[in-house]
Formats: sequence, structure tokens, C-alpha cells
Amino acid sequence: MSTASMHTEDHILEYAGAFRLVRKIAQGGMATVYEAEHLGPAGFAKRVALKVIHPHYAKEKTWLQLFIDEAKLSANLVHGNIVQIYQLGEVDGQYYMAMEYIKGPTVRAIIERHRVLETPVPLAISAYIASRVCRALDFAHNFVSSDGDRLDIVHRDVSPNNIMATWDGHVKLTDFGIAKANTSIDPMQKSPQMLMGKKHYMSPEQLLALEVSGRSDVFAVGVTLYELLALEPLFYEDATELLIDEVTWRPLPSVRELVPDIPRPIEEILTASLDRDPNKRPTAAAMGRALDKWCESQAVVATPDRLQEHLATILTDSYQPPTASEELTKFSNFKRGLRRADGKRHNWWSRMFKRA
Ligand SMILES: Nc1ncnc2c1ncn2[C@@H]1O[C@H](COP(=O)(O)OP(=O)(O)OP(=O)(O)O)[C@@H](O)[C@H]1O
Ligand SMILES: [Mg+2]
Repeated sequence: MSTASMHTEDHILEYAGAFRLVRKIAQGGMATVYEAEHLGPAGFAKRVALKVIHPHYAKEKTWLQLFIDEAKLSANLVHGNIVQIYQLGEVDGQYYMAMEYIKGPTVRAIIERHRVLETPVPLAISAYIASRVCRALDFAHNFVSSDGDRLDIVHRDVSPNNIMATWDGHVKLTDFGIAKANTSIDPMQKSPQMLMGKKHYMSPEQLLALEVSGRSDVFAVGVTLYELLALEPLFYEDATELLIDEVTWRPLPSVRELVPDIPRPIEEILTASLDRDPNKRPTAAAMGRALDKWCESQAVVATPDRLQEHLATILTDSYQPPTASEELTKFSNFKRGLRRADGKRHNWWSRMFKRA
């Protein structure tokens, strides 16, 4: 984007009086993301992320309608593992979306960091991240309108870029439904089937522009989980025709070759999520449950605290403690903390347990 149009964006949003832009976070093909403050009376200011849609997209009526429709569908998706949308706004034909501001890295950044460090992502951390994404998806896939109608929301763009971790160890999926608008029309190309989402994470049916369902998102979680485990993308091909071959029929590489000590249950969950036939894939709920079951069987249970500790360890330069507290809160380790190293419960816990 040129400096001039960047100023136009700034000007329009500041002029509207609603937002103060703090900094530009990133500029992508479809939008620019800012950290901003949503202003209210008497100095009220709420930190938000503002996604400002590039003007050439907003000029394309069909694209705009899809974008608005999807934003309307996702507006009420309020869930702990989903980045919440606050507002869809328009000023002088310029569209923006205000959403929950996430302090923390994307899963893409976590993967990249591990590649640099040449250390694997701990299995429990990978399983925990994927399990939380499954929870977000299960919520969205089964979401009903206030009239009780199923909305059949499909994310369509699950990828490491759209999964964020907060510094205190929570996992949040972002950009719900945006890919529908994204993949349907590309105003720059004037080609209706142009694929603009992260095509290397798409299921066979989505890549072939067939009907998608919640199971298409499950496939994308599988591709993301593979990358967390192997620290290498599952699909490489750049040319769309070759990628289609790779995604639809070429034998998948064995994760065990790259991660020899992968536990059998994780390998099975991964394989099932990557089935070419959507009907043979688990639902997001079933995949999440299976991951949770494995996590619970581990000596060190995956929790937000654990992810927070992990992020603090690997991202030393950018890590920002979420509060001024000098020690990590261990609330979510409550039950685990009650087990002694020898595996026996503390007496007082047993007493409380009996009383309850
Ligand atoms: N809610 C948010 N809070 C904080 N940072 C965000 C938020 N949403 C996005 N970002 C940051 O902005 C970057 C760009 O996001 P954007 O959604 O425009 O592109 P992308 O996720 O890389 O690709 P796409 O969403 O098109 O697949 C992200 O990588 C992330 O660093
Ligand atoms: Mg995104």
C-alpha cells in the first residue's frame, strides 16, 4: 500500500473519532491490522485490534457482501478460544473490523522460533494448542442463532497464522469466515475461483471448490498439528494443480519418520484428521476429546500455565508478562499440585474429597 493511502486510512479512522491507531501490526493482501484504542467518553479507551480492509476489496460489491455476511454470522461467537469480533464499521466506504486485541505470538511465530532453536515443540504443547482450536471449532460448527437455527459456520482458513497464543497461555482462533469472502472473489484478479486463503492448509474438498463442512476445518487442524510436530509444512507444492495432486491423492508423508517417538494415539488422531474423505474424519469435538484424553494421560498435564512458561522460555525477547505478578499463578494446576511426587494424594485432599 502506498504511503498516501495509508494516510487516508489513518485519517478516516481518526476523523471518525472512534479509534486512535497505536501501531501497525501487519499488512496483508486483504487488510492492514493495527493495534488501536476504541475511544469513549471521559478518556475511556479500550485496546482493540483493527482490521482495515483495503479499499479495492470494499469496492467489489459481491466480495463486500460476503465479507459483511460472514462478519454478521460470526459476530456472536463468544468463546474463550475465539478472538471476539466487537464491531464491523464503515467510514466513507472504508470498512474495518474491531476485534479482541491479542497480546502474544501466532502459532506461526511459535513454529518459526522452534525451527530457529532446532528444538521440537513439546508434544503436550502441540496437543494442547490443537485441542483448544478444536474446542473453538466445535463451538462454531454447532452454533445456533438466537432463533435456534443452526448457522453451520465453517472457519475455512485454519492455519498457524490464524491461531494466536496469549502470553498467559490461552489459545485463540481468529478470522472466522473471512476466507469465504477471501476465496470466492479476488478483486485484484477478477477471477471467481481464485484461492486466497492459506491454500496449503485446505482440505481436498475446499481446494477443489466443493462443498465444505466442519470436517474441512478438522483437516486444516490436522495440517497445522503435523507442522507443529514435524516443524515442516505437510504440503509444499506452489502451483495449484500440483498442490491439488499433493492434497487429494499423493500418499502423505509419515510423521513418524520425522518424529520417531510420536505416541501412537497422537499419530492416530493426526491420521484420522487428514483422511481424504471428510466423512471419515472425526468431528472437531471428537478430535479435541481424543487430544485431551492423551494430554490427561501425561505426567505433566498441558495447561495455560505450561504454555505461558513455554512461551517465556522460547520467546525471551518478546515475552511480556501479562501482569505484574512475580510468580505464575498455578490455578489450573490445582488438582495436579495436590498429587505428591510419589503419586499419593495429600491427606487433607482425601479428607475433603470424602466429605464432598
Ligand atoms: N486480534 C489480533 N490481535 C493482535 N494481533 C493480531 C490480531 N489479528 C491479527 N493480528 C496480527 O496481524 C497479523 C496479520 O493478520 P491477518 O489476519 O491480516 O493476516 P494472516 O493471518 O497472516 O493471513 P490470513 O488471515 O489472511 O490467513 C497476524 O499475523 C497477527 O500477528
Ligand atoms: Mg489472519
